[in-house]
Amino acid sequence: MKYYPPSNHIYYENSDVPINKLNIKELEVITEIEKELLARAYEHLHTKLDENVNFDEKYLCKVHEQIFFQLYDWAGKFRTVNISKDESIFCPYLNLSSFSNEIFMKLKNDNFLKDFEDISKKDEFIDKLAFYICEFNVLHPFNEGNGRALRLFIDMIVTFNGYEYINYEETLENDYYIKASIDCMITDCEKMKVILQKGLNKIFS
Ligand SMILES: Nc1ncnc2c1ncn2[C@@H]1O[C@H](COP(=O)(O)OP(=O)(O)OP(=O)(O)O)[C@@H](O)[C@H]1O
Ligand SMILES: [Mg+2]
Repeated sequence: MKYYPPSNHIYYENSDVPINKLNIKELEVITEIEKELLARAYEHLHTKLDENVNFDEKYLCKVHEQIFFQLYDWAGKFRTVNISKDESIFCPYLNLSSFSNEIFMKLKNDNFLKDFEDISKKDEFIDKLAFYICEFNVLHPFNEGNGRALRLFIDMIVTFNGYEYINYEETLENDYYIKASIDCMITDCEKMKVILQKGLNKIFS
């Protein structure tokens, strides 16, 4: 979905396609390529996942960069414009750095959510994940691709703890995920928790 106001000059004129290194202007073509690049980024980051990985700001940027570096100059970089979707106004770009620091300080105090392998902690894990997903959605640090980068970031956290990638399929299709994302803007994480209760499952469970 394209962002407004159109002061964000990352798109080709009168188009939803971001200006890209391959100069592709057809939405269907760029969508397919992005899909392939996302799958490759998942594979790459999964193979690099080990005890030394910290889910910090650098890692979030790396995730975004890994998905989009072949297409966009701004891959892995925080945006320098204000953006909104429908009624939702995301973090003003001038506050991105301080708000991001605030979120990642909390995440660090939670040891980057690296201690939730034990199934008995699943409910607490869901509460924490829902909280951070909501915070990161309000932050919305990148020009585009925030949803995909965030889901990949969170999928690496859950993988680290012995869970499968979160299954968002149904909730992405029926717009429940969007409704949950809108609620994030008023720090209401309840719908996001419901999504995780359905979509978060242990490997081999
Ligand atoms: N009206 C809204 N209010 C708040 N958040 C929203 C709204 N609409 C969508 N979102 C959130 O923004 C994300 C999309 O952001 P963005 O377009 O930057 O990422 P994307 O990866 O291109 O999209 P998608 O998540 O659809 O694949 C969605 O995943 C959702 O979490
Ligand atoms: Mg988008």
